[in-house]
Amino acid sequence: MELIRLDKLLSQALLLSRSDAKKKLRDSQVAINGKVCKNADMKVDPSVDIVTVGGQPIVYQKYVYIMLHKPAGVVSASKDPNEKTVVDLVPSEIRRKGLFPAGRLDKDTTGFVLITDDGDFAHRILAPGKHVPKTYRVTLTRTVSEAEVAELADGPVLDDEKLLPVAVQAVCEEKYIYSVVLMEGRYHQIKRMFAKQGNPVVALHRTQMGQLPLDPSLLPGECKVLSAGELERITMQ
Ligand code: URA
Repeated sequence: MELIRLDKLLSQALLLSRSDAKKKLRDSQVAINGKVCKNADMKVDPSVDIVTVGGQPIVYQKYVYIMLHKPAGVVSASKDPNEKTVVDLVPSEIRRKGLFPAGRLDKDTTGFVLITDDGDFAHRILAPGKHVPKTYRVTLTRTVSEAEVAELADGPVLDDEKLLPVAVQAVCEEKYIYSVVLMEGRYHQIKRMFAKQGNPVVALHRTQMGQLPLDPSLLPGECKVLSAGELERITMQ
C-alpha cells in the first residue's frame, strides 16, 4: 500500500499545478470512493481508492516518463550547483521528486533525453546487454571512408576494449552528416570513436531511443510526457 496526498495525486495525474489541484478540491469537484473531499492533505491509496474529478475517474501513474528536446548548454544531471540541468527544464506541472535523466548526453550535445523517476526502467534501457539502440545525427569534419564504416561496424576499440558494433550511414555526405546507432553508451563514445579516426565531431544530436524518434514538434528545451504506447517503442526490438 502506497499512500499519496490527494493534491499531489491530482496534480500528477491531471498535470495541474498544486494550486489548480487545490482549486478543484475547493470547488467540490473531487470525490474519493463517491464522497466529495475538499481536504488537500487527505492521503489516498491509488491502487484501492477511486478518485473522481467532475465524476470522471482519474488514472494515476506511479512513474512518469518525459521526452525532452535537450538544448546545448545544459547538463544531463538532476541537480547541479552551477549549471542548468535537464531536470530544471521540466515544467512544474509535471515535475516530481526523484526525476533523473536515463542516460547522459554531453553538455554540447542536443536531442532526445528521457527523464524519469523509474530506476528499474532506466536500468533496462541503459544496460549494454539490453541492446536498446540510440540513434544520433553526427556532423563530422570530413567524409567517413568505407573502411572506417567497416571498422565501426565490426566494433570500435576504445581504451583497448572492443565495443559493440556501431552502424554508420550517410545522411548528407556533402555536409558530412551521418546517422550513427550505438548499442551502448560509453563516456564520450561518439566523439572519441571519430576522433580516433582523425575525424572530429562538429555537432551531435540524439534523434531516437529504441524505435521512438524525438517528437519533431518539440523545440529545444521543450518536453512532453510519454504515453504507454510511446514508452513501449523505446524497448521494442
Ligand atoms: N557520444 C558522445 O560523444 N557524446 C554524447 O553526448 C553522446 C554520445
